[in-house]
Amino acid sequence: MTVARAPRLGERVVAPFGRRLCEVTRNLVAGGYRIFSALDPSGPMPAAGQFYMLAAESGWGGERGRPYVARAFSVADAERGDGDVRLDFLVQAVGPGTERLAALEEGEGLWIHGPLGRPFSAPHDLAPEAAGAILVGGGIGVAPLAIWRRQLLAAGVPARVLLGFRDRANSGGLDLFDCSEIRLASEDGHSGHRGLVTDLLAVLLEGDDARSAAVYACGPPAMLEAVRMMCAARGVVCELAMEAPMACGFGACFGCAAPLAGGGYIRLCVDGPVVRGDEIETALVPGSGH
Ligand SMILES: Cc1cc2nc3c(=O)[nH]c(=O)nc-3n(C[C@H](O)[C@H](O)[C@H](O)COP(=O)(O)OP(=O)(O)OC[C@H]3O[C@@H](n4cnc5c(N)ncnc54)[C@H](O)[C@@H]3O)c2cc1C
Ligand code: FES
Repeated sequence: MTVARAPRLGERVVAPFGRRLCEVTRNLVAGGYRIFSALDPSGPMPAAGQFYMLAAESGWGGERGRPYVARAFSVADAERGDGDVRLDFLVQAVGPGTERLAALEEGEGLWIHGPLGRPFSAPHDLAPEAAGAILVGGGIGVAPLAIWRRQLLAAGVPARVLLGFRDRANSGGLDLFDCSEIRLASEDGHSGHRGLVTDLLAVLLEGDDARSAAVYACGPPAMLEAVRMMCAARGVVCELAMEAPMACGFGACFGCAAPLAGGGYIRLCVDGPVVRGDEIETALVPGSGH
């Protein structure tokens, strides 16, 4: 049996070979999204920023065909149990795969493969002067920031949280953060600052001590690109958890290519999904975001 110890900050956890069948233990409304949990019987504790390929045991593929391949999901939280690991996922239903996963019921089976990919790095590994963290989430992209905040706090690293949503229907998952110090923005003004989450980031980056924190962002491509450009202009280090169409999740299909700053491409499933802002040419990856 794998010993499910907590990963150290920035440690890449390697997935066991093959997929594993888990039992779904809950499925809750989370604003306009849903949170579902599954018990991983033998996998390791994931690191924040890593993802799993998920497929329901039933109602997947079959005669109607879609959904067929497993879907990529950031782990939103994880807790070690008695020989197993509870994994939490935040889902926004946008198509056949996410709709089936959002409808999972307690006791159903869920195939998982993971944890996969490169996780977030500790602030001091990105820049020696970075002692704290600023987490910037947009829409369903808040998911990996919830577990990252928890792991940072456990390591004694202060983290400020900025979250933005388009409107009430496209928002949720705040319960995963378990804290009252979140600064919110919404484009329709239903909560917090009326406008973009990058407006809140701009205020923090104006301070003289901007370089004392590393920025970590996950959200729609346009938001990630804005964060990348703002951090570059201020000389602040940042990591972006990116999305791309992922058919395999382990480097075989090349569906998830993203352009590097110096030329060439990376595969976001194995070289990401977390990348440093200065590593890539743009966060506007074709086919990403919805
Ligand atoms: C590393 C990673 C982590 C992710 N984490 C989460 C998560 O925590 N919660 C969550 O709800 N979703 C997450 N996604 C997105 C999720 O995988 C897609 O929404 C899902 O694959 C869509 O499948 P579908 O069958 O429901 O819809 P489809 O019919 O396949 O697509 C519906 C719409 O979503 C767009 N889309 C499809 N795949 C992606 C993708 N990979 N990225 C962006 N847009 C896409 C399509 O262009 C289309 O507009 C993540 C994706 C990646 C790559
Ligand atoms: S998803 Fe297949 S190579 Fe990245």
